[in-house]
Amino acid sequence: MDNKNTFTITDNRTGKSYEIPLTDGNIRAMDLRQIKTNPEEFGTMAYDPAFTNTASCRSAVTFIDGAKGILRYRGYPIEQLAENCTFLEVAWLVLNGELPTEAQLKAWTDEITHHTLIHENIKKLMEGFRYDAHPMGMFISSVAALSTFYPEAKNVRDAEVRKAEIPRLIAKVPTIAAWAYRHSIGQRYVYPDNNLSYTANFMNMLWRKVESKYAANPVLARALYVLFILHIDHEQNCSANTMRAVGSSEADPYATTAAAAAALSGPLHGGANEKVLRMLREIGHKDNIPAYIERCKKGELKLMGFGHRVYKNYDPRARIIKRTAEEVFEVTGRNPQLDIALELEKIALEDEYFVKRKLYPNVDFYSGIIYQAMGFDTKMFTVLFAIPRTVGWLAQWQEMITDKEQKIARPRQVYVGYDQRDFVPMEQRTS
Ligand SMILES: CC(C)(COP(=O)(O)OP(=O)(O)OC[C@H]1O[C@@H](n2cnc3c(N)ncnc32)[C@H](O)[C@@H]1OP(=O)(O)O)[C@@H](O)C(=O)NCCC(=O)NCCS
Repeated sequence: MDNKNTFTITDNRTGKSYEIPLTDGNIRAMDLRQIKTNPEEFGTMAYDPAFTNTASCRSAVTFIDGAKGILRYRGYPIEQLAENCTFLEVAWLVLNGELPTEAQLKAWTDEITHHTLIHENIKKLMEGFRYDAHPMGMFISSVAALSTFYPEAKNVRDAEVRKAEIPRLIAKVPTIAAWAYRHSIGQRYVYPDNNLSYTANFMNMLWRKVESKYAANPVLARALYVLFILHIDHEQNCSANTMRAVGSSEADPYATTAAAAAALSGPLHGGANEKVLRMLREIGHKDNIPAYIERCKKGELKLMGFGHRVYKNYDPRARIIKRTAEEVFEVTGRNPQLDIALELEKIALEDEYFVKRKLYPNVDFYSGIIYQAMGFDTKMFTVLFAIPRTVGWLAQWQEMITDKEQKIARPRQVYVGYDQRDFVPMEQRTS
């Protein structure tokens, strides 16, 4: 048998056959365009609302096998990275493709540490928000505002400019996040401390009161960077796709990152762990779980923290987080919501409705419980997600900018509205 790397598509309207080449095992949607019944026609498109089966890019950053529950950054299993690396080490890997040498990691850590400070006018801008402003709204706006402080960042095709702006953003997002939190609790903003690690410095900016030196609990600081590592990237999710789409217009990385953060703020994406905690609070007691599950099965509610567009197996990040939760609770004491979550998980994993639909706990199911035990307000959860995800967004953005095949993102549509019709004067219009 001839082993050709092509598909033959027969158009049954015309009887004509087309040989379509396969690249990496896939067809190019543009190759469908030649399929038409007459030369004047536009040609055939692929219709794919919500991009459930469309690859928008070729990427070497993150690999996910949703059926098997595998997640790798640059080929390295997430479990090994979470176990052995610091957050900035993995950030370097995700951005540069290889694990850093000792010298590279030292220089990278130095560079990040020396960019954590933010212009006083951004502080003033943040102070202008209402006392009850959602920290994610403050985060999105403040990141966008940074673009006005670094006008040279708009030269996105310049590799040197990207090299300067990427660490700047990664260094500044914890400061913005912490200040958004301090604002929400009505306390003075704490400046970064260059003697602390990325996560310990963040904790210092969040929680330092009057002591001269805030001492982060090492178990909690480790738990935070494990959570950060797990959240760095997740290939072409809603916010990464936004980062690429907005970045494809050559908007600067601050405006582009703000747009990605806005996508993350939705409850079906980064806002889900906040919803998980609200759900656990609403359930209140283990005895109320069966009734809650029934309502989910009737379609009245979604079981928050369950289900994933890509994972149709246990989310590997959820497994690591569950372990981290135990370590955190050794320090903070057990959170009663963990018991409700564990019971909910047990029941849902045995229930036919969830089993049949392959609905497993996702990363958000446990992360909120840990964050809460560590002392974070639920409003901060999405902001906590945005800090490490900034690294992933920038890796996706850089890959997009340097990919010769990419151009401004502009999908097609299937127009289903009226055909041309004539204007109707006001007096002749009926409702
Ligand atoms: C993540 C999510 C948006 C993925 O959605 P999706 O891939 O489009 O999956 P679908 O909405 O097509 O769901 C398939 C089926 O499972 C059901 N389903 C999906 N997630 C569910 C959930 N969390 N609780 C109850 N039912 C759920 C859907 O109603 C649908 O049922 P049907 O086939 O009878 O109509 C969805 O699972 C969800 O909303 N989960 C809760 C929010 C969440 O945790 N988000 C964080 C993601 S990291």
